[in-house]
Amino acid sequence: MTFSIATYIKRCFALSVTCFALMMASQASAITTKQLDEIAQRIEPVGVVCIEGQVCGAEQTKAITVADNKTSTPSVKAEAEAEAAYSGRAPQNIYNRYCIACHASGAAGAPRLGNAKEWQPHIAKGMDTMLKNVIHGIGAMPPKGICSDCTDEELKHTIQYMINQSQ
Ligand code: HEC
Repeated sequence: MTFSIATYIKRCFALSVTCFALMMASQASAITTKQLDEIAQRIEPVGVVCIEGQVCGAEQTKAITVADNKTSTPSVKAEAEAEAAYSGRAPQNIYNRYCIACHASGAAGAPRLGNAKEWQPHIAKGMDTMLKNVIHGIGAMPPKGICSDCTDEELKHTIQYMINQSQ
């Protein structure tokens, strides 16, 4: 069975939001999002075809919103918001470029990534203290762990990444 992209979009709209999202992703190379938007605007309003036994139309949107609220506890939400506000480089990339030089081998007594026992006494100091020590340098670790252009925020996320890998 073949039908045009417009028909497919209509069906998608009518059937499910997920389907539309999938289509946006799968068609990304063949058709731009802008084009999709234009098509979507042209075919609005769409008559909703409801299938027996499926949540439909406005009810569907409501069902999705309710499900969202159920899965997002306040703390998860706050974490997600903090993550969304972070605009620095990926912590894993910073680690792989700078920190790995000492924290993979344990050079000069650096706690090794993935070694919970070695990290425990450092983690016990708390994030604020560790962040200060990394910024200014501590023992054999030079200031900013040699990432001289790292922001405090980037260092904090990188420390968090290292801790997460080492507990
Ligand atoms: C030149 C080697 C070296 C590099 C590069 C390095 N570290 Fe370290 N790091 C150390 C050593 C050595 C210690 C242990 C210092 C001590 O406790 O005396 C340490 C300790 C730490 C601690 C624990 C601090 C504390 O207060 O106990 C954190 C967190 C840390 N490093 C993060 C980083 C991050 C993030 C990077 C990369 C941006 C990095 N390190 C790069 C050598 C290094």
